[in-house]
Amino acid sequence: MNIAVVQMNPVFGDVAANCDRICALLQRADAEVVIFPELALSGYFFTSREQLAPIALDRESPALAAIESVCRQCNKVAIVGFPERNGARLYNAAVTFDPRGERHYYRKTHLFYRERFVFDEGDTGFGVSEIGWLDLRIGTMICYDWRFPEAARTLALGGADLIACPSNLVTHVWRMAMPVRALENKVYVAVANRIGSESDGSETLTFNGRSAIYGYNGTVLAELPADTEGIACAPIEPAKTRNKSFNPINDIFADRRPWAYRL
Ligand code: ACM
Repeated sequence: MNIAVVQMNPVFGDVAANCDRICALLQRADAEVVIFPELALSGYFFTSREQLAPIALDRESPALAAIESVCRQCNKVAIVGFPERNGARLYNAAVTFDPRGERHYYRKTHLFYRERFVFDEGDTGFGVSEIGWLDLRIGTMICYDWRFPEAARTLALGGADLIACPSNLVTHVWRMAMPVRALENKVYVAVANRIGSESDGSETLTFNGRSAIYGYNGTVLAELPADTEGIACAPIEPAKTRNKSFNPINDIFADRRPWAYRL
């Protein structure tokens, strides 16, 4: 099985254009599982709830239905970041479309920088989606969640083989941590980051690409450049992540000592 991370430059505020682009890239990706960036349907740098609210999507939105329909046509799983509206609440969310099953939603737990003035804190917790026909368990976290090792650990303890991380990363330090999240949990990690920049008039955020897929021992399986759109693919073997031993005696889950930890 192949997985892919898509690196793109969403058009700020233009859901229809971003949806078309996501559908085209989804068709093109040579992989059963295709991961898109955080807020890929909307762009990122919203600075007030009033600005975001008209753009935010409810779960019945035609844009989500259009992507789901391409997933069904191509028989691919897609994970896509979008701003979710639920009544008066706004979430920085990601949806997993299983072409042979249900949708799974994740709402970002740890809000980064000015996101906290725009979004409500996610309330889903860290769940794992079982993709039966691929024998694959996907856990989703979004961007800044990487700073909290508890997020990846919770997903791994929940049975994830692959942690998908739709992102809009603006620093470079994540490149030290993401392979470690893979290694310390013995899971695959896929970071779909965006490129380009967005400004609110007084401040500009630049997104630094380098989307990557890491193997369960922390090696780089595929990587994209810092400033071009593209798709990176890698083969994965999910079942290999389920045996948490790394030598005949040690097993990183069996060797945990929760009594000694204060989390
Ligand atoms: C981030 O959480 N978008 C850095």
